[in-house]
Amino acid sequence: MSSIDYSEKIPNNVNLSEDRTLQRALEQWQPNYLQWWGDMGPDGSQNFDVYLRTAVSVDPQGWAQFGHVKMPDYRWGIFLNPAEADRKIHFGDHKGEAAWQDVPGEYRANLRRIIVTQGDTEPASVEQQRHLGLTCPSQYDLRNLFQVNVEEGRHLWAMVYLLHKYFGRDGREEGEALLERRSGQEDNPRILQAFNEETPDWLSFFMFTYFTDRDGKFQLCALAESSFDPLARTTKFMLTEEAHHMFVGESGISRVISRTCAAMNELKTDDPAKLRAAGVIDLPTIQRYLNFHFSVTIDLFGADESSNAATFYSTGLKGRYEEGKRVDDHQLKGQSYRVLKVQGGQLNEVEVPMLNALNEVLRDDYITDSVGGVNRWNKVIEKAGIPFKLTVPHKAFHRNIGSLAGVKVSPDGRVISEAEWAAKVDSWLPSGADRAYVASLMGRVVEPGKFANWIAPPVMGINRQPIDFDYVRFN
Ligand SMILES: [Fe+2]
Ligand SMILES: [Fe+2]
Repeated sequence: MSSIDYSEKIPNNVNLSEDRTLQRALEQWQPNYLQWWGDMGPDGSQNFDVYLRTAVSVDPQGWAQFGHVKMPDYRWGIFLNPAEADRKIHFGDHKGEAAWQDVPGEYRANLRRIIVTQGDTEPASVEQQRHLGLTCPSQYDLRNLFQVNVEEGRHLWAMVYLLHKYFGRDGREEGEALLERRSGQEDNPRILQAFNEETPDWLSFFMFTYFTDRDGKFQLCALAESSFDPLARTTKFMLTEEAHHMFVGESGISRVISRTCAAMNELKTDDPAKLRAAGVIDLPTIQRYLNFHFSVTIDLFGADESSNAATFYSTGLKGRYEEGKRVDDHQLKGQSYRVLKVQGGQLNEVEVPMLNALNEVLRDDYITDSVGGVNRWNKVIEKAGIPFKLTVPHKAFHRNIGSLAGVKVSPDGRVISEAEWAAKVDSWLPSGADRAYVASLMGRVVEPGKFANWIAPPVMGINRQPIDFDYVRFN
């Protein structure tokens, strides 16, 4: 069950050849996908041989195989974690019943919406990142970018498989629409706002893979609890790929910080102007990028109070993060949770029914997880002996969804006036000048083992290869 058949046009571990209709439908979608990859995938890279990992089995041990591949020849396919025998629904109104192997008619519309929304983020991030290869800081980083890109492409395959297999004609139409929307395009944008923002430079890319791919992790973890078993199994396997994306972000930022700290110690200065003259990214600029990506990403969890969130949970479509490890009744009726509201010009916590606050519950779990990496970045700064601490901004800072949308709040959580916001926003969020400076650093470094001046080399290569390995052959 767990081994993958690569002899087929579409590699899979779901016995695709036994379902001719489905196989045909997916084989018709495949060239459209490849066309999309050609148009919207990594710019100017079609002929490169890239040292990529490909899944060979979904077993926890050794699912990956490494080798140089041209990206358009990457074997995108359909991989599900093995089925758990007699899996039971473990939360919501159907708790204790057998997990669904098919879509219950009454939940069809909601399940489709959940799958489409998740699926839409996958090609969106490839589109957002498509020009980054032109300004990579090293071959090692270029390879990591491409690895993330091909895997996001595979995540799209994962969602399209579910749409085709379980949602008939509607599902096939959604599969086409997923290839037609475009990140940032005015008349046909991607569904969620963070996926319409630009990822213009590598500092943004590392922040995105740290913060926004982590949103992916939390959404996938919640879907991995789903009563709809094929969705649970699909997302479980996607999570194993997601871990590498977050690693790229965390280690990327860590290396930027490490380089900056080295320059600070060398030049004995914390003056951003002097550090910029030396071609590194000053820590306050890193903090502003962090503020931006953190706030835009926590919006992805949705409104703090949401009847949809309650419905998705009670009907068993989407669980909480680590639902199985929690010790409550897994139905949550009559329980409450605290959310933030602005009352009389102040942020107050108010109790609301927990079922309606499940977006907020997931957002809070996400925040706890994100802070972990920020603390590890601070260790790098501390080790260099520099008195500076990165922090995540207050949850109410720069929010655009739910009851906090549009309220002006400082990074330390004070409700402030429009005037104070306007006066200080450039010290809290990347200014035009910050973005222009970071953009000015982005030049292409591709000699094996060489790194751009603004980032330190990694501690280790990929798959135990040396750092100066030829991760990308340009042909
Ligand atoms: Fe993904
Ligand atoms: Fe990802």
